Amino acid sequence: MREERILVVDDDQSIRELAKKILSKEGFSVEHANNGSEAVSLLRKSRFDLVITDLSMPVMSGEDLLAVVKADYPDTEVIVMTTYPTIDTAVNTLKLGAYDYIIKPFNFDLMLSVINRVLERKKLFSELKNEKLLREKTISLFEDVYDLFLSTIKSIAEAIEAKDTYTHGHCERIREYSLLIGKKLNLNSDETRDLEYAALLHDVGKIAIPEAILNKPGKMLAADELEILKTHTIKGINILKHIKQLKSALPGIKYHHERYDGKGYPEKLKGKDIPLIARIITVVDAYDAMTSDRVYRKSLPLQTAKDILSKEKNRQFDGEIVDVFLQIIG
Ligand SMILES: [Fe+2]
Repeated sequence: MREERILVVDDDQSIRELAKKILSKEGFSVEHANNGSEAVSLLRKSRFDLVITDLSMPVMSGEDLLAVVKADYPDTEVIVMTTYPTIDTAVNTLKLGAYDYIIKPFNFDLMLSVINRVLERKKLFSELKNEKLLREKTISLFEDVYDLFLSTIKSIAEAIEAKDTYTHGHCERIREYSLLIGKKLNLNSDETRDLEYAALLHDVGKIAIPEAILNKPGKMLAADELEILKTHTIKGINILKHIKQLKSALPGIKYHHERYDGKGYPEKLKGKDIPLIARIITVVDAYDAMTSDRVYRKSLPLQTAKDILSKEKNRQFDGEIVDVFLQIIG
C-alpha cells in the first residue's frame, strides 16, 4: 500500500472506475468525482497528493478545478486527461499549473509513469522544503541560545559594576570599543565572540574582592591590598572555567592586566605573547577608566587620556592597537 492519495475526476463513469481499479491495484488510495464541483468538496474534506482530471465536464470544468487547486491546495499536483480534439486546451493547462497531460484513451503504463514522475518530484520538493525549514529552525534556535547567553553575561557584567566604583555602562562600553577594534583587525567570528565575552566579563573576578579594597583609590592601597586586588584576574577565570562556551574567552580575562613591556600581571607576559583579545581589552579598559568619573576622582580630559595612550605605546600597551583605537575615537 502506498501512502499517496489520488483523486480521479471525470464525468465518464467507465473511465473513473477503470482508473480507480488500475491505480488501486498499484497501491494508491483512490477516490473519484463526477465533476469539478464534486472534486472541490472532496478536496475540502481530505488531502490529496494528486488530482487527475478530465477537462470537459458539466457543472465545473477541469480548467476551473485546476484554478481552485492551484490557488487553495498548492501542495496538490494536477494531471489533465484529454482526447485529441482538445489537445491545445491541454497544453494551455500546463501554463496554468498542471504538471502534465494524458491523452485518452490512455495507455496505462504511460499513465503510471507520468503519475510516478509527478509524485517523485513532489516528494523531493517536500523533502527539500523540510530540510530548509529545519535549517531555518536550527539557526533561529542557535540565535535564541546566543541571545540568552549574551543576556546572562551582561547581567553578570552589571553585577560587577554594581560592586565596583565603575560608572554605569563600563562593561558595555568596553564591549563596544573592543568590537570596533576587532572589526578593524579583521578578527574572525570565533575570535570576535571571544572578544565580546571577555570584554564584558574582564573584571568578573572583582566579585570575589572585598569592597573596602575595590573602593579605595589605587594609590592609597597598601601593598598587601594591591596584591589582593591583582588576584581578580585569576579569580575571574576560576569563576568562569566551568562554562564550556567561555573557554576560549578566558585568556582575555586572565591577561587583561599584562603590559606590553612585560611588567604586568599575573604572568608578566610580554608583547605578542599576550593574547590579542587581552591586548585589545587592556587599551579600551584603560581609556574608559581614565575618561570616567570615579568616586574618588574626576575623569581626565579626553585629549589627556589619548596622550597617555600614545605615550604608553609599546610600554603598557600594544602600539598597533593604540593606533587603531585612536583612529576609531578620532
Ligand atoms: Fe581589571
